[in-house]
Amino acid sequence: MAEEKLSVSKIVKGTAIDHIPSGRGYLVQKILKIDPGARAVIIANVDSGKYGKKDLIKIEGKYLTPKEVNIISLIAPHATINKIENSEVVEKSEVKFPDVIEEVLKCPNLSCIANAENEPIVTKFIKVDNALQCHYCDSLLKQEEIVNNLKV
Ligand code: CTP
Ligand code: ZN
Repeated sequence: MAEEKLSVSKIVKGTAIDHIPSGRGYLVQKILKIDPGARAVIIANVDSGKYGKKDLIKIEGKYLTPKEVNIISLIAPHATINKIENSEVVEKSEVKFPDVIEEVLKCPNLSCIANAENEPIVTKFIKVDNALQCHYCDSLLKQEEIVNNLKV
């Protein structure tokens, strides 16, 4: 925290996404499609008591939709979303892994209809024990494979 304070100023209104696993800040930025013109910053490899090192993203003037928060949970299961107004944290929430995930993930099965080249359909995965299951072909995507199957 002291390290972070040295390098980055507080934001006035917007969102600070904290506790992103070290090295994944850029993925969160990519998947949120943060406007290149936005005032945003990724702070990488800051010391964090609980998880060793962490990444953090601050986006001035942007609030996240529930859908965006769900997507973040795929990459950063322990992320904290801080909503900031008038330079104060007014809301702090944990991300929650969704039961159904549409669009953001590719099916690992190349012959799945979700991967058809002529008429691709929106992918859909259902959460099962420690994995996600394709709604169309039942292929399983293990939790640790998620990051490699993102459509970014
Ligand atoms: N933050 C910010 N601008 C503000 C207020 C807070 O960028 N005006 C950021 C802080 O830098 C921090 C996050 O929002 O990364 C959460 O702020 P706060 O709750 O004050 O920090 P902590 O107590 O460290 O959070 P936690 O208890 O969740 O670890
Ligand atoms: Zn499939």
